[in-house]
Amino acid sequence: TDSPLLTADQDAIRVITVNRPDKLNALNAATLDALHAAFDAAAEDAAVRAVVLTGAGPKAFVAGADIAEMSGLSPVQGRDFSQRGQRMMRRVEKMPKPVIAMVNGFALGGGLELAMCCHLRIAADGAKLGLPEVGLGLLPGFGGTQRLLRLVGRAAALELTLTGAPVDAARALALGLVNRVVPAADLEAETMALATKLAGNAPLAMRGILDAIHVGGECGIDEGLEYESAQFGLAFSTEDAREGMAAFLERRKPAFGNR
Ligand code: COA
Repeated sequence: TDSPLLTADQDAIRVITVNRPDKLNALNAATLDALHAAFDAAAEDAAVRAVVLTGAGPKAFVAGADIAEMSGLSPVQGRDFSQRGQRMMRRVEKMPKPVIAMVNGFALGGGLELAMCCHLRIAADGAKLGLPEVGLGLLPGFGGTQRLLRLVGRAAALELTLTGAPVDAARALALGLVNRVVPAADLEAETMALATKLAGNAPLAMRGILDAIHVGGECGIDEGLEYESAQFGLAFSTEDAREGMAAFLERRKPAFGNR
């Protein structure tokens, strides 16, 4: 097929794979649009409880926006391309169910931006992560300046964007840029084990957590606390909260629906 993506379900986990391995999974406009559609579909499908995003082949998660395609852009087209990527990545970030980036190699430029809009990141020990756009005479345009700042703070964000030099997985872990680093041979199993754990959690509780943490990242403490209380109260309207608390009191494992 000509689709730039592969999608496959393992139980309640949707695995979305950027599939342009001969171009190290570089993001052209068609791939941005396919990702947007794939995340819309995963959001709407109640059978999907967690999403794993990765890149095809042994070398790269995603090696960036497609430089060949970008090289011909006018200023207006450049702004539009940026907004196209930003919209897709905001859609991923605002997913109502957890999204894990399985970083199986290079995550550069738009590839690191794509990993950063996911909720959790697990990297193979050989992965390299960076925002090398400055070396092309550009800057990150899919949210990289904003999300890197929020993830790792100003000093490291300035270092990575101004030098353009990638960091290895160990430094990425130390910076908080990834949640975990595992041997490449274990990456898929470890990622699927984490996704399976999340897929067994109460979907509406996770949705409230995602919302509350995203809102809290952008507002003051009092607004954030108020939002948390509202979400906490709302959780008491769910059958899953009754089930979770009853299961604890009855010393059994909870079975969460999506109710
Ligand atoms: N856009 C378009 N094509 C890309 C690409 C990108 N971001 N990254 C890699 N490719 C293509 C290469 O052009 C090459 O295609 P070809 O075989 O048709 O010539 C193919 O993918 C393999 O890449 P190659 O550079 O030969 O692999 P390598 O192992 O020598 O180097 C990298 C790997 C990741 C270091 C190198 O590909 C690279 O620096 N990529 C660009 C990273 C970047 O600047 N990203 C930010 C973009 S905003």
